[in-house]
Order: sequence, then structure tokens, then C-alpha cells
Amino acid sequence: MWWEIEGHLEVRENQLYIAGIEASKLAERYGTPLYIYNGNRIIENFNRVKGAFEAAGVKPRIHYAAKANTHLAVLQLLSRQGAWIDAVSVNEVKIALKAGFPVGRILFTGASVGNADLKGLMQLGVRITIDSFSQMRRMKELGFKGEASIRWNPGEGAGHHEHTITAGKFIKFGIPEHRIEEAFLKAKALGLDIVGLHQHIGSGWLGKDVDVFLETVDKTIAVAEKAEELLGKKLEFVDFGGGPGIPYSKEQKEFPLEKYARGIIKKMKAADLNAEIAVEPGRYIVGDSGILLVEINTVEEKNVPVIGVNSGFNHLIRPAFYGSHHEMVVCNNVGGRNRKSFMVAGNLCESGDVFNESKQELRELPIPEEGDILALLNAGAYGYIMSSNYNSRAKPACILLLNGKEQLMVERQTVDDLLTKEKELEI
Ligand code: LLP
Repeated sequence: MWWEIEGHLEVRENQLYIAGIEASKLAERYGTPLYIYNGNRIIENFNRVKGAFEAAGVKPRIHYAAKANTHLAVLQLLSRQGAWIDAVSVNEVKIALKAGFPVGRILFTGASVGNADLKGLMQLGVRITIDSFSQMRRMKELGFKGEASIRWNPGEGAGHHEHTITAGKFIKFGIPEHRIEEAFLKAKALGLDIVGLHQHIGSGWLGKDVDVFLETVDKTIAVAEKAEELLGKKLEFVDFGGGPGIPYSKEQKEFPLEKYARGIIKKMKAADLNAEIAVEPGRYIVGDSGILLVEINTVEEKNVPVIGVNSGFNHLIRPAFYGSHHEMVVCNNVGGRNRKSFMVAGNLCESGDVFNESKQELRELPIPEEGDILALLNAGAYGYIMSSNYNSRAKPACILLLNGKEQLMVERQTVDDLLTKEKELEI
């Protein structure tokens, strides 16, 4: 199968294996819906990014974008590898600290950052990226004494969906091109300690988008040089954001990691800068490490052939929200020849609750039996972390596989968990 990765996802005797363990057996042991992450794959992905830069003679700051998957154990695993953290909320910073990241290895880069956020961040002592003139002014008013970077919008973006493009026109993030020099001058006038420049053009780009990204790298480097001139000092780092994609479907190619890393390095070396290179990959590190197992409870001809499962967009929202493709695999009959095209329907009361790319895209699968386990692949990034309790359904359990061992990482919720913060009617 196109998605097989040796030692990670494999098909043996028509059964799906993850990290050498039969997926259906894990479903039996832990129940479904179940998120499974292969920690060794996370480490491999991290090392591949690190290695691509190191092969070209540079030690990068790899800020893992915690928003992709914030499980404590995953963060701990990445802390052990020497990762840094890109955090977007005070709570993400707190979770990263709990996971053992030193405060100096955390950079906060948020949007619409309020004073409550700023106060929380200042208490924790992390570096803060400035997203607006308003934020800059309020940081000064609140007495911010730490180090800061400025995020700018380099005017061009890329991403797998409109919602994940974060630079260009009609974009809320960063300081726009025509005001970036003013931003450095303002920060200097306010006495803020600006140590870095930040860009993030969007999430989930592959192929030709890498050329768009490399164009923005040129622009960002030019702005960094200008910033040093305006500030009268050297920058400590330039952060090129996250975004490297992964293949979700057969047609998509592997991310050209070497072209990406070498491209950044070559441009940085040619520049008049001593700044360190920072990148913020999220999806690339954890995306293909995780799968979601769901149980097939209904196989029936409605007005289309339907497979009903015990999960929905409450557990994996990407298909419903972005029309994203997630490969689906019948765990106990992966290559079955008796095939048919199905709508794979979740158990929520909304017609958009299907795991197909849309209601119209029927997916060809081996005809399953009720009770079979279906795996949704590439669910390690923006999966559990975007889940909800819609329809008062519990969030799934999550397990981690690492070095031939397995552990429960997140317990399955119960109805009591849904009620813990609820109050009885009192008035
Ligand atoms: N840095 C910043 C400032 C970001 O906003 C993001 C993602 C990243 C890094 C990491 O991007 P990555 O390397 O993972 O592409 N929920 C969407 C993706 C939203 C990404 C938001 N920001 C999805 O499921 O595709």
C-alpha cells in the first residue's frame, strides 16, 4: 500500500500493524474509538528535520508546534530529543513547562493576544512574539521586560486549505508589509528588547508551494537585515514558521525536506545576518505517527452504500472542516478484493458528519463486516487536539507505542467528565 512505512505502518497477512502490533488487537485491548501514536515515528520525523539542517552544517532551533498534538507524553518525548516549543496560548506554555521544556526553549506566538494572556506569559517568563501594534503597546504598558520577536506578514501564503493560509491578503496574523519598518522603530522607541523576526505563511504545503515559501524566506531575510539596521543591533533568530505537509493521499508526494532546509540555509548564509534559524513544524513531526481506530457498526444500502462507525467529526474534524482526505483501512482485511464505494458515516446528528472528503465522495473499500475495525490514517496532527464533546460523546482514549512497549496516554472520558464543571439549576 502507498502509505506503508517500514516498522511503523505495515500490512502482514492482510492485517494492519502499527509499530509491529496488530491494530485490531489494540482495539480489543483498549476499546474504540482509539487514537494510537507511534512514538518512534515521532522521533524519526523529528530527527529527519534536524538531520536535513545538520547535513548542511546548521544546528536549527526546531520549535515543535505544540498545537498539532499537545499530549503531555508526546511533549515529553520531544523534550527528550532537544526540541523547542512554539506555543499559542498560556495553557500550551504551562503544559510545555509541565512536560519539562526549559522556559528558554519556548516561544509564544499567538493571535489577538489580550492582556490576560500577556500577564500570564509574563509571569511564566517566556519569549513573546508581537502580532500587532496594539500588543506591542500593551506589553510596554504592562511592564514587559523580556525578549520579544515580531511576526510579519510577508504578503504571500500557502496551505492545504483557505483556512490554513496565514499570510497574504485578508489575513489576521502579523504586521503587514507596509508597516513592518514602523513596527521595528516603534518597538525601539518603546524600549522593547527585539531579538527575532517571525513569519508563518500557512500550514500543510507540499510540492510547488515550497517555492512560494522560499520566496517568502528571501523577503523575510531582507526584512531581518533592515530590522538590524533600524534597531541598531543583531537579531538572535529568524523564525520561518511551520507548514511542511505530509502526503494524506496517494497522489501527494513526500515533502521535499532537503530542498526546504538547504534553501533556507543557503539564503541565510548569503545574508548579512548571524541569527540562528528557527522553524516550527507541527504536522510533519506528529501527523503520520497517529491513527484513529473506530468500529464499524452498520453496513447497509441506504440511498448510497453506508458504513456507520462509532465516531465522528467530534473526534477527527479535518474531513468535515477542511474537506481533508484521510486514508481509511479495514484493519482485518486491508487488501480485500471484494470492494465497493461507501459513505463512511459518523454517529453525530449532522449530515456533514462523514469521514469522506465530502458527502459526494464515496470511498472504495473492501466490503466490511459489522464489528470490523476501521483505521483512519495520518491522524496524529490536529486530530484529538481538535476533538470536542459534541452530542455529549466522550473523547477517545489515546495510547502511545514506544520501543516495543505500550502505555495509556489519555484515558477515555466518561459522562462524569462531561459533568465535572456543570452546576445544577439553583435559581
Ligand atoms: N507556527 C505557527 C505560528 C502556526 O500558526 C502553525 C499552525 C504552525 C507553526 C505549525 O504548522 P504545521 O507545521 O503543523 O503545518 N488545523 C489545521 C492546521 C492549522 C495550523 C495552524 N497553525 C489542519 O488540521 O490542517
